[in-house]
Amino acid sequence: MGIVMVIIGFLFVLVLLCSALLRWNEMRYNKTNLPPGTMGWPIFGETTEFLKQGPDFMRNQRLRYGSFFKSHLLGCPTLVSMDTEINRYILKNESKGLVPGYPQSMLDILGTCNMAAVHGSSHRLMRGSLLSLISSAMMRDHILPKVDYFMRSYLGQWSELENVDIQDKTKHMAFLSSLSQIAGNLRKPLVEEFKNEFFKLVVGTLSVPIDLPGTNYRCGIQARKNIDRLLSELMQERKDSGETFTDMLGYLMKKEDNRYPLTDEEIRDQVVTILYSGYETVSTTSMMALKYLHDHPKALEELRREHLTIRERKRQDDPLDLENVKSMKFTRAVILETSRLATIVNGVLRKTTRDMEINGYLIPKGWRIYVYTREINYDTNLYKDPLIFNPWRWMEKSLESQNSCFVFGGGTRLCPGKELGIVEISSFLHYFVTRYRWEEMGGDKLMVFPRVFAPKGFHLRISPY
Ligand code: HEM
Repeated sequence: MGIVMVIIGFLFVLVLLCSALLRWNEMRYNKTNLPPGTMGWPIFGETTEFLKQGPDFMRNQRLRYGSFFKSHLLGCPTLVSMDTEINRYILKNESKGLVPGYPQSMLDILGTCNMAAVHGSSHRLMRGSLLSLISSAMMRDHILPKVDYFMRSYLGQWSELENVDIQDKTKHMAFLSSLSQIAGNLRKPLVEEFKNEFFKLVVGTLSVPIDLPGTNYRCGIQARKNIDRLLSELMQERKDSGETFTDMLGYLMKKEDNRYPLTDEEIRDQVVTILYSGYETVSTTSMMALKYLHDHPKALEELRREHLTIRERKRQDDPLDLENVKSMKFTRAVILETSRLATIVNGVLRKTTRDMEINGYLIPKGWRIYVYTREINYDTNLYKDPLIFNPWRWMEKSLESQNSCFVFGGGTRLCPGKELGIVEISSFLHYFVTRYRWEEMGGDKLMVFPRVFAPKGFHLRISPY
């Protein structure tokens, strides 16, 4: 009996303590004119619910508080905006002090000069440098030939396979395709070493920044150091050789006629940024496009027709040229529809650099803003039957110019790699659908967070046409 009373007493004190803590945490953020919402526990906030429930957490909070609410996520007081117009405003107003606000683990690992970490003149330099690497002329003369060669041979190797773990394969594909554009002449063991370190780096950027032995964060930092070493050795080798290289690293290292000269550290950060930004986005879009095409035979038929028409005018091993890619109107529509429906990017993060008024509320300096765009992708005011895979909706050009900002970001941070990504995915689809027919095997379990909507264990049984 005595023990029962002690347990009841203990539980009672615990409940009192918890509600006092929750109340205290709410009071701390009640001083200014902040939007509605809850702040959860001290330090942890509502991170656990957010990570566990993913998009459902956002939907529930919106039902309770509307499209503009406060929370405490991933260690920061955060304002979540799910409102189309406010999101547009936030993305377009970096100059008013709404700068990118990505988690510390990401910034530590991607480097202090990576594009998401810099603003003002440094951002213009890094962004200008990247855009010059992927201009139309560069795309035609250097990038597309490399992407084409890579996709043709990578997918050619699949003819020996029957069962393909498509999630795994598209991840390797996205990484290797980028690497072949960055440094085309790497020896195989070096590529393997690079790849292993890169995969550890990616896991590290999505971790809690706890610098202890064995944590993903520590492994990510170590992987980044190893990548820096590999890149420094490669750059030194190239400097010593005196040769000219026509890959991205070659252009980044060019001293003469370079409008955007970068230091060695900036070059390393730029290389890691290119690899990182195109990795999850290109791999998931490629995989999900196959999933949707499989489930929508009419779309697949139209897509195949587009690619077979291109092939009919070519000899067997002729590469794709830029005109071919530009003519792939339906393929582009499939890619945009896949990015919308599978919401490859749930939203983007910003932070306030001073106290500022947004939507009639006073948001304190240092708050993070989660510009949550996922639900906008399913907005009935923007898309008819938004939950249906309908690539034809993108055949009307105006839809892309109006809405794609929420698939590829917007304002000064609009994705600079959009066309590169589309070229990579288009040539992947080209060589896949003209060579293989496929059936899905399993993979109906969907993992919603943090890797949005990626079917786990998604395997394909493929056979050549
Ligand atoms: C389907 C493919 C892709 C999607 C859906 C996508 C999406 C996005 C989005 C939403 C942003 C905005 C981030 C923000 O506002 O904070 C962004 C920025 C960025 N993307 Fe992409 N991206 C894709 C492919 C690529 C590729 C292939 C590259 C490689 C060069 C790339 C490089 C970047 C960079 C460097 C930024 C930062 C831009 C800046 O801060 O100025 N992206 N992307």
